[in-house]
This record gives sequence, structure tokens and C-alpha cells, in this order.
Amino acid sequence: MTDVSGCWDDVYREAARLKPLHLRQLFDADPHRFDRLSFRLDDILVDCAKEKLDSRALASLLALARAAGVEARRDEMFRGETVNVTERRAALHVALRGAGGNVMAEVVRARERMLAFARDLRHGRVTGLSGGPFSDVVNIGIGGSHLGPLMATRALAPFHDGPRLHFVSNVDGADITDTLKPLDPRTTLVIVASKTFGTLETMTNARTARSWLGDAAEHHMAAVTSHETAARDFAIDDERIFGFADWVGGRYSLWSSVGLSLAIAVGDDQFRSFLEGGRLMDRHFRTAPLEGNLPVILALIGIWRRNAMDWPTRALIPYDHRLRLFPAYIQQLEMESNGKGVDRDGSPVIRPSAPVVWGGCGTDSQHSFFQLLHQGTDTVPVDFLLAARPHEAHGRHHAILAASAVAQAAALAFGRTTAEVRAAMAASGASADDILRLVAHRTLPGDRPSTTIVYRQLDAMTLGRLVALFEHKVFVEGVIWDVNPFDQWGVEFAKDLAQEVLPMLQGGAKPEELDSSSRGLLAHLDHLGRD
Ligand code: F6P
Repeated sequence: MTDVSGCWDDVYREAARLKPLHLRQLFDADPHRFDRLSFRLDDILVDCAKEKLDSRALASLLALARAAGVEARRDEMFRGETVNVTERRAALHVALRGAGGNVMAEVVRARERMLAFARDLRHGRVTGLSGGPFSDVVNIGIGGSHLGPLMATRALAPFHDGPRLHFVSNVDGADITDTLKPLDPRTTLVIVASKTFGTLETMTNARTARSWLGDAAEHHMAAVTSHETAARDFAIDDERIFGFADWVGGRYSLWSSVGLSLAIAVGDDQFRSFLEGGRLMDRHFRTAPLEGNLPVILALIGIWRRNAMDWPTRALIPYDHRLRLFPAYIQQLEMESNGKGVDRDGSPVIRPSAPVVWGGCGTDSQHSFFQLLHQGTDTVPVDFLLAARPHEAHGRHHAILAASAVAQAAALAFGRTTAEVRAAMAASGASADDILRLVAHRTLPGDRPSTTIVYRQLDAMTLGRLVALFEHKVFVEGVIWDVNPFDQWGVEFAKDLAQEVLPMLQGGAKPEELDSSSRGLLAHLDHLGRD
């Protein structure tokens, strides 16, 4: 058996060799860097040439992946073994797109029921109380029961030909109030999406929606859940309850009946293409050698950045406007999955796990936080996403968008030296005084890494491939960090605590055991609330 800690030592040794070298030097040293460090799957290109590593360092990471048992653990996941060890269940979201062995009959039955409902609703065969079609659909959910369908509906906007879709997630009454305000309860369907059908925010919003619907509620509500009894208890008609298995994690549930709102928006052909995209990525992940396996490569880049280089955050910047919610979606996927401090056996992890994942959309982000990326005191590695073809043929828009992405990645990597700044300023006629005054300010250090992912066009299949690509990347990282990416105990605890605090805000006593800060805040809220 290969020694994992020996492999880690090799990775750290490679990092020590590469840290003092600027990306400019790495490019100068190897004219074939792009060929060596870019990877392809059909039209998808993952360019890691601007990462601060080389083939030798990558080889050490691949050895680490093998020693950590990535291949065996991947196969266990696909076989439906109990990879979610703390919750004692499988994590079989791959079955929802076709790789599920003996659960497939159940998966297909649930999917076809959900898609038939979406189809009937789109064609006006599922109607409201008045017998008319639904013009609007509101999805109420939070976390995985919200971000997935919302992100995907925005991503596939060019294919949206069904009823208008709205999303409510926040328990702040402002969210549901503003969402429902322009809608007519007579032509609105409300979907309550909650795996547990017990999440405080979602159930609070669901009750508010039910009273807004009034007499129509019975005919105007549907549920998506793996807790069908709870949905029945909420008086949702059996015909409109769409289940999914408890081995689908919330943040992996877009592929399940949680995709109902997406299927209503874009129709079942598009939804099936989305699943097909996931299936293609599954096949690649399962069969491609690690050396050219895109999720594995992205995961190894993640490990390199986080552990070898010690960078605690990473930014995800789609230069694809319709993917503007992708960073938020991936933030949950990565941070809820791998934001863990103990390993699968419950022992403290011995090296940092998931970084802080954040981001925004290009080009807007360039005009907000990119300044820090270029000249700030921390290195923040960036993942860029970029389509080769836009859906719109508006003049130069797409060329400018693509040029901006490529230019930003180059500016981050190579920066602008003092000599270059001096030369450029002199050429543009700046005075010697101005050059002296500004040269330091205008110098960009560079040596800031990024990976760029390019694909042909953002369609349903590509969205499916991208989501599955990141899911598997997170899985591989979880294997290497030896954490369970499929539980979220920290969030569960904070959810319970809110339930305990709630009565104290509704006039109840503030027990002495509660810390003085929380008691002080509650008292102040009471006071201001009464004024
Ligand atoms: O935020 C914690 C979490 O459990 C997520 O994992 C999940 O996606 C979200 O809450 C919503 O849970 P549910 O779908 O059960 O309402």
C-alpha cells in the first residue's frame, strides 16, 4: 500500500521548489506549458497553465490521489455503497442521471411522474381552481432546494418557454412579500421544495403562501420532498407530491424532483439534456485515467492551492452572464461538503480542508473586487468560466467579454513590471516626475494563478456537464482530505439553536444560561421592536 503521508511530503517538496518561481519564469522555462497543462473533454477545455505548478508537481499530486484511494472510493460511490458514513447512507445522485444499478427503476418512476406533471402544467392540462392555466410558479425552498433550480433556470434562460418562475428562500418576510406582490393567486402554483419538509425558513414561507392562496391553496400547491408524509400532513394533494430518495443530498438534488421548477420552465427535453450532460461527465469521471480526468485535475489544483500553496480562498468568476449564480451554487456545494474539521473517523483533520469559495460575474467583478486580486496583499486563485459562442448575435459584445476574461487571467499571471510601466508611461508622454510618483502604484506583481474553463455554449447539456464536473471535483477533494462530503452537522446545529432562541423573541424568558451577548441583543431587539 502506498504511503499517503510520504505522498504529501512529495507534494510539499514540489511546492517549496516552485514557490520562489514567478509564473513568468515558469512560462519562460517551458514553451509547451499550455499543451502540458491543459486538458480536454470534447469541447470543454480546462487550462491550468497559469497555475503555479508544473508537470512534476502535478505528478506528485496524481500519486497522492492514487495513494488516497480516489479510484476505489469513486467506484464505491457509483456502486451505491455507504459513502456518507455519518448518516449511514449512500450518496447516489449519479443514479439520478443514469448510473445507479438497482435503484434505477425507482429513479425513473419518480422522474417520469415529475416530468409528466411539468409537461401537463406547461400545456395547460394541470389547471388552477378556476380551470385556467398557471401563468406563474413560485418555488419555495432554501439551500439545495433553492439555489440549484434558481441557478439552472437563470442559466437556461434562452430555453425558458414555460410559465414565469419565481423563487423564495429567505425567511425574511420581505422576500415572499416582494415576490408575491405582482402575482395573482388565481393563476399561481406554489411548489414547496424541501428534502426534510421541516426546514424552518421553507415551512414558514409555505404557510404564508398557503394563506395568500386562500381557498385556492389545495389546488395551487405542490411539494417536492423525500418526506412525503410531512407534505401530506401539510394538506398537499398526493397527486402533487413528488418524492426523491434520502440518499440524494440537498446540494446534489437539482437532478431529482427538486428540478421540477426547472422542468416547468424549460420543458422535459431540456431537462433530459441536462441529465445527459451529467451522465457524460459521470462516464468520463468513472473511466478516464486520472492524468486526463477533468474532475480529478480540478480537485488536484484545489489541493495544490489550498494545502501546498496555503491560499485560504478561491474566486469563481463566470464570464457568462447567465451563470452569474453559479458561484453561489458552487459555494454551497464546496463549503457545505468539504468545510469540515474532522476526518471520516471523527479525528481532527491534520491539514486545511475546503477554502472559502466566493465570486461574481465577469465583467462586473472587474469593476468591484478585481483590484484586490491584482494588487492586494493576498493571493486569491481564480477559476474563470467562458463560453466560445454566445446565444445572442449583438455586435462585439461577446468578443469583448471573451477578451476581458483572457486579459484578466494574463494580467493576474504576468502582472506589469516596473520597467514596463516606466516604458509605457514614457511612450505616452508622461513627465519624469509623474513616472517617479506613479510607477509603484501602476506596477502589478503578477504571479497570481488561475484556471480557465472554456466550453462551446451554455446549453442544458453543458450545464449538466459543468455541475457534475464540480460535484466530482468536490468528491475527489473530500477523499484526499479524508472528510465526509455528504453531511453538514454544523448547519444542523445552528438550525436547532434558532428554534430554541425563537420563543425568546416572542415574549418568552431569556434564560440565564444564554450568553450575555445573545441576551443583550434579544433585549435590545425587544426594546426597539416595542418603541
Ligand atoms: O443548509 C442546510 C441544509 O440542510 C442544506 O444542506 C439543504 O440544502 C437545506 O438545508 C435545505 O434543506 P431542506 O431541503 O430539507 O429544506
